[in-house]
Amino acid sequence: MKQEMIDLLKKKNKISDKDADEVLALDESEIIDFLKELGSQESSENTAKKIKENLKTDYIGKNIYFYDEVKSTNNIAKFFGESDEEEGVVIIADTQTKARGRSGKAWKSPKGGSWLSILIRPNVPPTHASLITLATGVAVCKTLRTIGVNAQIKWPNDILIKDKKVSGILTEAKASFNNLDYVVVGIGIDTNLTMNDFPEELKDNVTSLKDEANREIKEKKIIRIFLEEFEKFYNYFKEEDYEKILNEWRHLSKTIGSEVIIRQPLGKIIEGYAIGINREGSLIIEKNDGSLEKIFAGELRHKGNVY
Ligand code: BTN
Repeated sequence: MKQEMIDLLKKKNKISDKDADEVLALDESEIIDFLKELGSQESSENTAKKIKENLKTDYIGKNIYFYDEVKSTNNIAKFFGESDEEEGVVIIADTQTKARGRSGKAWKSPKGGSWLSILIRPNVPPTHASLITLATGVAVCKTLRTIGVNAQIKWPNDILIKDKKVSGILTEAKASFNNLDYVVVGIGIDTNLTMNDFPEELKDNVTSLKDEANREIKEKKIIRIFLEEFEKFYNYFKEEDYEKILNEWRHLSKTIGSEVIIRQPLGKIIEGYAIGINREGSLIIEKNDGSLEKIFAGELRHKGNVY
């Protein structure tokens, strides 16, 4: 990870590659300082500053760092997570060259999309992390609805518009002694992408905000609203007001009440009606024989749809 950050800084001429020994001797906090400097300068429009201008949050996005090209914003946020950086730091990139999606899939991140990661430090056991992901899904979905599109959540956290995926969330956490050290929540939104930005095999199943709303979307405004929604729902999480998150999730969900097919991590297929979600973020399925099953993880598809 340290090498990846050094490579990024060298590419941007933030640190010279003349003296390899000197570069390798840099400690993490010096690299963080360089990353902060780079992330405060990149982008001629100064994206970070513009988002912060009207941002009404207490701590999420108080520090925003923007990069024109990185491998993955989650990697940068994790590097900050390993330091003593406080929670709330937001990392945004114009493009990502090696972004990750869920289940080890690659995530295409060309210019025109919103690619960001938030570093948080919830003081809870790792089993609580799935509620943070649900809260993030709620925040994204509510944000997208502000531009007039009918966004819905597919369990656990894909955001769809009319059965096509428009946004995804990847939560990565580090824990020690049954406590989360930090969590990085990575959000990808296909904001102003066009169908030419997607590979052929995805074109029928994905969409962008621009295509759905038939207009160019103000990306900085979308990110600002999202950060405000995120702080609101993350605060509910910290106050252990889990029902607020779950009720909103149920309300925005496309999955609850639908007939679904789930492929579990070991390949087992479960079919039935999704009838609820519990505090662990597990989906409750009423199977065709009438029995109930709790699903912790898996790839879900609504019957008759690709997603
Ligand atoms: C999914 O598979 O649905 C999750 C996609 C998450 C993509 C975002 S883009 C910003 C952050 N950086 C990454 O490498 N991934 C996440």
